Amino acid sequence: MSFERSNIARMAGYTPGEQLTGDDVIKLNTNENPYPPSPAVAAALQATDVAALRRYPPPTATAFREAAANLHEVLPQNLIPTNGGDELLRLVLTTFVDAGETVVTTQPSYSLYPVLADIQDCRLLEVPLLDDWSLPTGFVEQLNASGSKLCILVNPHAPTGQLLSVDQLTAIADGFDGILLVDEAYVDFIDPQLAYNSVPMAVERNNVLLLRTLSKGYSLAGLRFGYGIGCPELIEPMLAKTRDSYNTDLIAQRLATAAIESVDYAEESWSRVRQQREQLTAALQALGFSVTPSQTNFLLCQVPDQQTAPGLYDALKEQNILVRYFDQDRLRDKLRISIGSEEENTALLHALRALL
Ligand SMILES: Cc1ncc(COP(=O)(O)O)c(C=O)c1O
Repeated sequence: MSFERSNIARMAGYTPGEQLTGDDVIKLNTNENPYPPSPAVAAALQATDVAALRRYPPPTATAFREAAANLHEVLPQNLIPTNGGDELLRLVLTTFVDAGETVVTTQPSYSLYPVLADIQDCRLLEVPLLDDWSLPTGFVEQLNASGSKLCILVNPHAPTGQLLSVDQLTAIADGFDGILLVDEAYVDFIDPQLAYNSVPMAVERNNVLLLRTLSKGYSLAGLRFGYGIGCPELIEPMLAKTRDSYNTDLIAQRLATAAIESVDYAEESWSRVRQQREQLTAALQALGFSVTPSQTNFLLCQVPDQQTAPGLYDALKEQNILVRYFDQDRLRDKLRISIGSEEENTALLHALRALL
């Protein structure tokens, strides 16, 4: 006999990208930043005396909230620090959505959303994106007709890299009767010329939350630190009631604060990733891949005719180059390739040229 709740017994868990280790592995499968974190992060780590771990950390990561509030020109009350962006997703579901209620997202999207909806025993409505990966007309009407309490949109979109404008998001937020959670895990890689900034629109509304993470833009995936931005009415119940009592640890808080305070260093890496993104897109197109224009640190690439995506995935893996293959409708002829360093991208292209 199983003691699991019936919805947990029925569900499958999240499948993370492979985490092979070793100096000879070129890891382009989980959208990590190829460049190192700020030296200020290393200094904060060195300055942390293990004796400080005897005590519990500040429960709401006060110093980090102040640093992030400065960065985004909002108040600390607009922010909730979390154990990775993933914890924020879980908190939003458990705080605002009852079992049996509907959550809407798009198809395709980040594969953790269905898992979290299953855990909360919610209904998940996955609205298919159009052939060009844009939202269908009448999307907001569909949201309201479904009676959905929460809509999760990842922007820029994963796994395609496409961007919705702040105007588009505003129209959705204003027309929707529930909470719009915009997962901005990859926001740092957006071309600055687009001047994308959804923060003012989010904090001015009572139904918008933004997800941010230090995993990608700040090269700190191993640290597990993210945060939510929104109006105090949405932040407060998560901060005061539903998060774990000490959801972010002392070392993570100190390092995350150092990272945010030295954002100029991270910005350099964002610009290098964008340069590499442009070069890698052109080089893959020259090899016959069809590449979706991306505002993230990855590219969704349809493989050339006469090739299969799983075939290329396996052949690259044999050479210790990991990319991501999704065995899912509309993605079976594609690979998702994270932007690596110049050397990593060169090695990938070299391997692909030999294979094709
Ligand atoms: C779309 C999206 N959202 C959120 C996350 C969560 O990131 P983390 O929990 O590392 O902050 C990821 C990580 O890959 C992601 O791809």
